[in-house]
Amino acid sequence: MTLEKVVIPVAGLGTRMLPATKVIPKEMLPIIDKPIIQYVIEEVISAGFKEIILVTHSSKNSIENHFDTSFELETTLERRIKRSLLREIKNISRLKSKIFSVRQGEAKGLGHAILQAKELINGEPFAVVLPDRVMNNSKFNSKKDNLAYMRKTFLKNNSSILLLEKVPAKDVSKYGIARLEKPLKSHGTISKIIDIHEKPSIAKAPSRFAAVGRYIFENKILDFISNDSEDGKEIEITDAIKNFVREGNISQATLLKGECFDCGSKQGYFNSILKTGLSLPEYKKEVLKSLKDH
Ligand code: G1P
Repeated sequence: MTLEKVVIPVAGLGTRMLPATKVIPKEMLPIIDKPIIQYVIEEVISAGFKEIILVTHSSKNSIENHFDTSFELETTLERRIKRSLLREIKNISRLKSKIFSVRQGEAKGLGHAILQAKELINGEPFAVVLPDRVMNNSKFNSKKDNLAYMRKTFLKNNSSILLLEKVPAKDVSKYGIARLEKPLKSHGTISKIIDIHEKPSIAKAPSRFAAVGRYIFENKILDFISNDSEDGKEIEITDAIKNFVREGNISQATLLKGECFDCGSKQGYFNSILKTGLSLPEYKKEVLKSLKDH
């Protein structure tokens, strides 16, 4: 069994982050000195995936350009003897994984985005990583502890697996919320998903366990993603997972270790900058001083 492919849907217009995202793709907004998408791709590579499939949009070319070689920039840095910067820039385009892309012409939801990658997935199992969720690596190595753990678990038992986090009741209506066979108490434990609902009201939420945006699927999940949206509604991956488990297929869940920022929201994006700044020794003192002065 191999598990090499990961689908990263980047076609979304990022309306929650307007006006910043009027021209700049939300995935290209920086957290300190790297765009969001670079953190996400580094996570995917360190988890062991070899093929990245971007499901993209005509307005998002800068994402692919970011991972391409920039001869002009490299020559300038070489001439100015900026060795460490040159190394860093070269490394961005010399990833250990290949990047492919496919277009999602219409914004019809996450399930629809994943279906656009079907040919490139080519019958294999695959991961889906949502690029507006960024792991905070300051306390734990959340990069290694979450997606890499999910990949290992999938390779062991060959069942789909989702990463969940416990959210406050007021936030259940922002996420896919799962009903579990038994509540997840700590990272490293697994529970079966019995049901899952996309953005339920507090009253209807089956739990407070929310999908974080890291999924590993058996290939047959693709048969459960509907081709048509009912009454123009988005085609949700959550609905496909719901039908997948209702038909007796197994989908497991595990609990997030550390913290995962929701950079699709202004508050989450702000937290990611603040906490990443605090995790970097060269900025920590200054950031703490500014907060204290404030
Ligand atoms: C998507 C998924 C949702 C998941 C969330 C994680 O929602 O549809 O189930 O919980 O990502 O961030 P979106 O944030 O794209 O509306």
